[in-house]
Amino acid sequence: MSYPGSVRIYEVGPRDGLQNEAVPVSTDVKLEYVKLLRAAGLREIEATSFVSPSAIPQLADADELLPALPREPGVRFPVLVPNERGMARAEAAGATALAVFTAASDAFTQRNIGMTIDESLASFAPVLARATELGWWKRAYVSTAFGCPFTGRVAVDKVVQVSQRLIGLGTDEICIGDTIGVGVPSQVHELTAAHLGAGIPLDRLAYHFHDTRGTAIANVVAGLEDGITCFDSSTGGTGGCPYAPGAAGNLATEDLVYLLDGMGIAHGIDLAGVLGAARFIAGALGKPLASKVGQAGGWDQETGQCYT
Ligand code: COA
Ligand code: ZN
Repeated sequence: MSYPGSVRIYEVGPRDGLQNEAVPVSTDVKLEYVKLLRAAGLREIEATSFVSPSAIPQLADADELLPALPREPGVRFPVLVPNERGMARAEAAGATALAVFTAASDAFTQRNIGMTIDESLASFAPVLARATELGWWKRAYVSTAFGCPFTGRVAVDKVVQVSQRLIGLGTDEICIGDTIGVGVPSQVHELTAAHLGAGIPLDRLAYHFHDTRGTAIANVVAGLEDGITCFDSSTGGTGGCPYAPGAAGNLATEDLVYLLDGMGIAHGIDLAGVLGAARFIAGALGKPLASKVGQAGGWDQETGQCYT
């Protein structure tokens, strides 16, 4: 079996992680969290959302947070944008990368953003056109690609159709999401093959797994076997989607880093640094670290010692 020589880790802790936490986190704590993530080597950090503050009060400080993040070459802070109102706010705050989000299930988009899939794509079209004009990097999430909390199994063809329409709107990267953590490796292979078959190349695909049922790492390995080179994760394993019942816990960045290190796949991120950031945010949220590597520690291959 051959695997990619290197992959990108796309950190979603400050956005997907914090949006579903009941404990409010101050802007200063978020800034320190991002600083620790940067120090650990993460270069793509989804920072916040320019959505309705009444829908996601945890991220209502986006207009203050984004301008306060340190700008560095080669570092990207994508932000979630649902509509033109959000785009105007993102522009004013100095964004240069965005993510739009829809789903492969109408029932889910209706509950999450009050729109059908068609309506969501109509809402994103001017946003993506404007972002293209401005030269921004553009990602699109296709949520519930592995299953919907309201309607069950989702057809692979349906996912691919939505991805193709998003590519048609100018999206650079499609992120296929297992929003509620129900997916298994055979589905990953099916989804990758169907996207490739529809002409969407590997380097425009990413996967977003939740570890709700313990399958996230197995799904990453399936993605690596397919040649996928971008995976999402959340430091500390926090997060989920507030509109997806049971969606607890993104794949933890520390668990992903441990796996890639062991497999000899390059990613540029330091496990000890990630563990430090994970402890920091878990402390701020007043909860224990949920991740496997957070609990057991890393393992030094030379000495056999654990480290935290
Ligand atoms: N930024 C700030 N406020 C916004 C906004 C934005 N991008 N978009 C809409 N609003 C405000 C409107 O001004 C309005 O405010 P009011 O009630 O004070 O008048 C309110 O939100 C409702 O606006 P409306 O245009 O009717 O939108 P909606 O109620 O259909 O909501 C979304 C649509 C997408 C804006 C909203 O559902 C949302 O932000 N959802 C967030 C979903 C999310 O982030 N989920 C997690 C990711 S999985
Ligand atoms: Zn998620």
